[in-house]
Amino acid sequence: MAEREVTLSVIKADVGSLVGHVQAHPEMLAAVETRLAAAKEEGLLTDFYVANVGDDIELIMTHYKGSDNEEIHKLAWDSFMDATEVARELKLYAAGQDLLSDSFAGNIKGLGPGVAEMTFVERPSEPIVIFMADKTDPGAWNLPLYKMFADPFNTIGLVIDPKMHDGFKFEVHDLVEHKKITFSLPEELYDMLVFVGSPSRYCIKHIYAKSTGAIAAATSTERLNLMAGRYIGKDDPVCIVRCQSGLPAVGEALEAFAEPHLVAGWMRGSHYGPLLPVAEKDSRPTRFDGPPRVVALGFQLCHGRLIGPQDFFADVAFDRARKKALKVADYLRHLGPFEPHRLSLDQLEYTTLPLVAEKLQERFEDL
Ligand code: F6R
Ligand code: MG
Ligand code: MG
Repeated sequence: MAEREVTLSVIKADVGSLVGHVQAHPEMLAAVETRLAAAKEEGLLTDFYVANVGDDIELIMTHYKGSDNEEIHKLAWDSFMDATEVARELKLYAAGQDLLSDSFAGNIKGLGPGVAEMTFVERPSEPIVIFMADKTDPGAWNLPLYKMFADPFNTIGLVIDPKMHDGFKFEVHDLVEHKKITFSLPEELYDMLVFVGSPSRYCIKHIYAKSTGAIAAATSTERLNLMAGRYIGKDDPVCIVRCQSGLPAVGEALEAFAEPHLVAGWMRGSHYGPLLPVAEKDSRPTRFDGPPRVVALGFQLCHGRLIGPQDFFADVAFDRARKKALKVADYLRHLGPFEPHRLSLDQLEYTTLPLVAEKLQERFEDL
């Protein structure tokens, strides 16, 4: 008999925080946990863990309903509604921010929250890392995913593990034209870099192992401002990576964050800043509403149960990355309102900047 496929759904939203855009309130998390615990009791969920990264709440859920399941998406939606209610009662900042609709309509995608899901047959041992970022957008995963799954200087397994040596398939989404393309690496590495090197538009959505066809990574690619057509906040994406036994080792996945890269987001979603790897408890974006953060929680799946988490970036091995990131942050802040600290004009299209520029349009005279 074929084994049942388990689904890991990571669904996240920012529905208000304490103080300003810094951190979800413990009572919001408690409200969400109550609803998810009831769903587990009923048997809809096999297991769950509620994470909090900055002002975002991440619902990490396992079940046997498959990806894009209406009941699971509705559960996530209702949980975020519960947290919104708490945020409203406490007059927390930006209560209900990411919920772009008044009601749920079958699938949570397009309604504001970010979604990363994967469905697979659980291996004899199933190590998983869930990366969660605040104050940045889905393009933040392009460089680390490239390093994990395509760069032998990061992932030595690509060279010495026969199960990895064939490489991986990368599904890349064009978030502007709503198209997708799949690249087979390593042979199409240069072709893929044409696109994923521009992470404000092209994002890696899924990665598959060529040796087995199995799903290896999935990201959330929802762009709030593109969905709403106005500035709401940053998307603060999540990313699931399966590890070991023919996939990147846990340490190879984490290594991709040892050299902090620059991501779009930070203050008012309008600045480049270094992605700072931190423990979950340290994911409080303070300075200039940042710098952007990334948390990595590890779990072993056990018949759908989430054993863990292991809070990887709490480790001292990432102290140097943090130091470096903070140095880069100092340097970039020095540029103030000038590019390349500030994003380019086309990237600022959905911020409040065009409203200011518009008012000055009529004062321009022909040369
Ligand atoms: C970035 C973010 C914050 C806000 C900033 C202004 O994603 O959420 O940096 O953009 O605090 O917020 P408002 O416009 O709500 O005063
Ligand atoms: Mg917020
Ligand atoms: Mg956020």
